Amino acid sequence: MEVEINNIDLYYEDQGTGKPIVLIHGFPFDHHLWDRQVEILADHHRVITPDLRGFGQSDAPEGPYTMTQYAADIIALLDLLQIDRAIIAGLSMGGYISLAIAEQYPERLDGLVLSNTRTAKDTAAIRQNRYNTVEKIKFEGTEFLVLDMLGKVLSKDTRKHNPAVLEFVEQIMRRQRAAGIIGAQQGMAQRKDRSFILNDLQIPVLVIAGRDDKLISPMEAKRIAKELPLGHLEIIPKAGHLSNLEQPDTYNERFMRFVESTEVVEH
Ligand code: MLT
Repeated sequence: MEVEINNIDLYYEDQGTGKPIVLIHGFPFDHHLWDRQVEILADHHRVITPDLRGFGQSDAPEGPYTMTQYAADIIALLDLLQIDRAIIAGLSMGGYISLAIAEQYPERLDGLVLSNTRTAKDTAAIRQNRYNTVEKIKFEGTEFLVLDMLGKVLSKDTRKHNPAVLEFVEQIMRRQRAAGIIGAQQGMAQRKDRSFILNDLQIPVLVIAGRDDKLISPMEAKRIAKELPLGHLEIIPKAGHLSNLEQPDTYNERFMRFVESTEVVEH
């Protein structure tokens, strides 16, 4: 489905009924990143999977797409769907956005799932690398980025035993437009450190990491979980940066268990 919010057409899918859960994809993907979760979660809950601005079937206006802008897009979508509160789950860049939502709109959250992500802002070197990537894309397109990321996002185990996942990930990345990739890179480069919000988060938070994540170390997840008053940590074996796709059964089981634990018991 498509809706107009914040001056763009935003595409999203809305499946199942029950407790609302919003799944926010990482970079450079689209809502299909969550296909293996929707299959299971939507049998029990209402699952909303947007294509972030710049990705999938959503418009790709000029960037930068700041995490604040992305957060405002998600909240505008919830407003339109008349959803007051939801569980928000984000992977990697989706996690950066989830943290921005938790900072700015804490009253909209029933729970938070932070997968393969970090709270820190970019180091100077990473920021410079993003700007170099943007310049390179302008000259030669996105192919080099797809190949570079393809070499890094999956664990050794997945690459060896699950070529279908590699192919699926490659297809999603190849579909993304240069304008969207540039806007997101510029936005991530500008993001601030959001570590400071963790101590005060009075909602349940599930922190998930892939034990073999080469892009964002599981150490980051450990650090995040330690700071949270209501945090729970899960480190998934044989998973890299895309833990939800690499080990979907384990990921789904942990996710479902978390959602059930957030259910308000009525007397
Ligand atoms: C992602 O998977 O969303 C990206 O690796 C995040 C990033 O570039 O920092």
